[in-house]
Parts: sequence; structure tokens; C-alpha cells
Amino acid sequence: MIKIDGDKCKRDGLCLKACCENHVFVQDAPGEIPRPENQGDCSLCGHCVAVCPGDAITHSGMNMAEFKPVDLSAFPTPEAAENFLFSMRSVRQYKKKAVSREDIDRLLAAGAKAASEHNSQDRRFFVLTDAAKIHELSGKLTAHYGMLAKTLRPPVMSAIGVFAPGMKDYLEGSLPDMKRKAVEFGQETDPIFHSAPCLIVITSKKANMLGKDTALTAQETIRFLAHAMGLGTCVSGYAIGAPSIVSKALKIPRGQKIQTVFTLGYPALKYRKTVDRKPPQIDRAGN
Ligand SMILES: Cc1cc2nc3c(=O)[nH]c(=O)nc-3n(C[C@H](O)[C@H](O)[C@H](O)COP(=O)(O)O)c2cc1C
Ligand code: SF4
Ligand code: SF4
Repeated sequence: MIKIDGDKCKRDGLCLKACCENHVFVQDAPGEIPRPENQGDCSLCGHCVAVCPGDAITHSGMNMAEFKPVDLSAFPTPEAAENFLFSMRSVRQYKKKAVSREDIDRLLAAGAKAASEHNSQDRRFFVLTDAAKIHELSGKLTAHYGMLAKTLRPPVMSAIGVFAPGMKDYLEGSLPDMKRKAVEFGQETDPIFHSAPCLIVITSKKANMLGKDTALTAQETIRFLAHAMGLGTCVSGYAIGAPSIVSKALKIPRGQKIQTVFTLGYPALKYRKTVDRKPPQIDRAGN
């Protein structure tokens, strides 16, 4: 239920303009107090409360304590933001140090605030911090990829090349790495999760066509906050590529689809410089 305190309302109509669903508020005439008429269409985006200069709106569908004043003075300069963003590396060397439950919860709370399609917030977070179980899962994945590498003999590759040439190129590029990982695991290292103390899996409902996007906004929010907290992360394509194995290990419920998997922990290496990447390929469409 949305309520507007008429005594506090400045009648500027900003809530109407900000409303993600466009028509939840109705203002009979400019300068009138808006009425929250079509509340059934509200997507709980919170923009009306956040934009209101009079603190006049309360929304019983949301926790009002979560609407905190934005401290513009604490914003980084663009240069400071670039320094921070460009300094984040994927971490593959972790200290033998657990991440506290409080820190993990803080990160997941941040992930839960990330953008989602129509504000569905359709994501679930599965956390694994049991070192033995992470290692066991790593073993299952290396065995899986070792087996896959054996299966993908030249005749099989040729057949794949006929139907899906792009897939053949991709698999051929990955084969040496798959074989190497199986060997490395046998040598008591963890080539999949790099002995990280924490593994995070984000799922969405299987039926959600934009579930991947919604999971990835959360993932990147978590990764950047982790970086700010002195933690490191690394997305695990090998785990994402074998969802049935990860699902079984983490007991992911049916109906949920694994959208991403990444490791979390304290980085053992300190990167002192940013890195070079290809410049963006830009097409000015319509020029
Ligand atoms: C995968 C994805 C698809 C989205 N598609 C649209 C869209 O087509 N149109 C739109 O206005 N907003 C779109 N959004 C924005 C969401 O509606 C918005 O993130 C959500 O309402 C929460 O608001 P916030 O981003 O201000 O926190 C999309 C967001 C995501 C992550
Ligand atoms: S944004 Fe707030 S102050 Fe402005 S019209 Fe809406 S309720 Fe009133
Ligand atoms: S929470 Fe979002 S969708 Fe709901 S009334 Fe406010 S601005 Fe509109």
C-alpha cells in the first residue's frame, strides 16, 4: 500500500515522472497531490520514494529503512572510479583464510539490490564454504572435462565441425586446457576453483528468459564490492559449463537454473598496475 502524506507533499509530480510503471500515480491537475491509484501495477522499484523531495511517500510493500540518503559527497571522481574498476583482476591465487559469514552476507545483500528485468529480483544465491566439498566438486569437474577431452577424438570433432563449426573451434581451443586440468588435479592442486575458500552460485527460475542477465548484474555488483573489501573473485566457466554436476553437488532445486558460478576469497597476490586490453570495437550505427 502506497501512502502520500499531504502535509509533506510538495506537489511537484516527481513521483509520477519517476514511476517505472508510468501510471501508478494520478495527478488530477498540475499542483495537486498525486493519488496512488493503480497500485496493483507497482513493480516495487522504489523510484517514487527515492525521488520524493518531501519524504512524503511510504510504501508498505518495501522496507522503508532501506531508503537511505544518498551521500553525493562520497562519490568517487571518474578518475577514482576508473582506478578502482580497472584494478580488479580475476583471482586465481587465494590465501588460506576463510571469508566471514558477515562479509558474505554483506556481498549477497549488495547483489540482491542489482538491476533485474522488470525488477523481478529473480535470483537465488547458493554458497559453499566447506573446503572439502569445494575440492570434491573440483575433482568431479576435472574428471568430467578429462572424459570429455577423451571423447572428442578427431572423428567426433570432424562431425561437430559439419554441424557447428564455431563449436568445433571452441572445443579445439579448450581441449588442451581440459586435459591439463585433469593432470593438475591429480597433482593435488585445484585447477578449477584455485583452492578458494568460498564458492557462490547464482540461479534464476528456468522459465526466466532474462535470468542470465539478472544473475550477472548481481554477480558484477558482488565482485566490485568484494574488490572494495579487499576480497577477490573469479568467474568459473568450467563450473558454469557443467551445470548438472554443480546442481547435484549444491542440491540446487529443480526449476532453478544455474546462471553463474564464481569463487571468492582473499587474494594472495597484489596487482600494482592496471592491464592492457583491446580498445572497444565501436560502430556508430546510423551515422
Ligand atoms: C536483464 C534486464 C533487462 C531489463 N530490461 C528493461 C527494459 O526493457 N526496459 C526498462 O525500462 N528497464 C529494463 N531493465 C531495468 C529494470 O527494470 C530495473 O533494473 C529494475 O526495475 C530495478 O530498478 P533499478 O535498476 O533502478 O534498481 C532491465 C534490467 C535488466 C537487468
Ligand atoms: S514526489 Fe513526493 S513531493 Fe513530489 S508530488 Fe510526489 S509525493 Fe509529492
Ligand atoms: S515503487 Fe516504482 S512502480 Fe511502484 S509506484 Fe513507486 S515508482 Fe511506481
